[in-house]
Amino acid sequence: MDSSPRFSTCLSWKRIVCSFFLPFILSGLAPSRKYKEYLISGEVRPQLPQYRFNWSHLTPLELKNRSMGLQTESIAGSNPYFTLGGHKFLIFGGSIHYFRVPRAYWRDRLLKLKACGFNTVTTYVPWNLHEPQRGKFDFSGNLDLEAFVLMAAEIGLWVILRPGPYICSEIDLGGLPSWLLQDPNLRLRTTDNGFVEAVNQYFDHLMARVVPLQYHQGGPIIAVQVENEYGSFNKDKDYMPYLQKALLKRGIVELLLTSDSEKEVQRGSIKGVLATLNMNAFQENAIKSLHKMQEPSEITGLSSNASQATSSCLY
Ligand SMILES: *[C@@H]1O[C@H](CO)[C@@H](O)[C@H](O)[C@H]1NC(C)=O
Ligand SMILES: *[C@@H]1O[C@H](CO)[C@@H](O)[C@H](O)[C@H]1NC(C)=O
Repeated sequence: MDSSPRFSTCLSWKRIVCSFFLPFILSGLAPSRKYKEYLISGEVRPQLPQYRFNWSHLTPLELKNRSMGLQTESIAGSNPYFTLGGHKFLIFGGSIHYFRVPRAYWRDRLLKLKACGFNTVTTYVPWNLHEPQRGKFDFSGNLDLEAFVLMAAEIGLWVILRPGPYICSEIDLGGLPSWLLQDPNLRLRTTDNGFVEAVNQYFDHLMARVVPLQYHQGGPIIAVQVENEYGSFNKDKDYMPYLQKALLKRGIVELLLTSDSEKEVQRGSIKGVLATLNMNAFQENAIKSLHKMQEPSEITGLSSNASQATSSCLY
């Protein structure tokens, strides 16, 4: 499916599936260089060294104490890493989009993800399907986001939610509802009144469902992505901070992140939100520039400031 000409093209979802979590995988608890090469080339090596992570106590059903959610930490001189519940944690995430998989197969697909060794599932949330007509919301059947998230938890997977409002995801108009186009003056993905009014109404419905599914409330959602590759569009500098506030104001308390390609990560990231990279293939330079982009002061000392985290994946 072609992207709308009004938007720059984005990475295909398959590539994102493969690459979205590379930065996470490579940040924190960074394995040795040799092992990284295996990880990246996909080459199967028997007898991998001592990197056997045991997360059996770090699953949604096992981890009862929810006082500390997903955070980034870094100790001077070492690589930053994630912690969950205060434990060092490595996110191995893969995408399954509930709206693309018949509901009857959700369990099967999630079990397979888990069986592959992943500990996290990520999904977009398609606005156009959830609000097919202005003010008419649908979270039933194959669109029952809550049921999907709860099923993931039951199976032992954490969830990273990517609710847009624009999600790209190879969906027409990046998942924005087509009824937005009825107003020819409305400027999509900006703080244009018409657009943010529609976003606000949608977020009121969506976030009311998401809030109780968050980690701190006992649910599996450990992080939420703000928009999607906005660096490639970037028509309004107030838009991303607006969305960040829109999430916070509705009770989203878990780690927020942005996701951009290497070229656009500067323009797509915002203060206080963890910047991450989408990559087609592993590029050490991309990780380096992500690192440079971060404030030096932010990556020293013990800190839980989100915006520093994936910075020194390779160091
Ligand atoms: C993983 O950790 C749990 C709890 O700490 C322990 O009961 C289990 O035996 C460990 N599994 C392996 C394979 O080490
Ligand atoms: C929950 O975890 C926090 C942070 O690790 C710790 O300080 C607190 O004592 C724990 N609470 C219980 C009841 O174990």
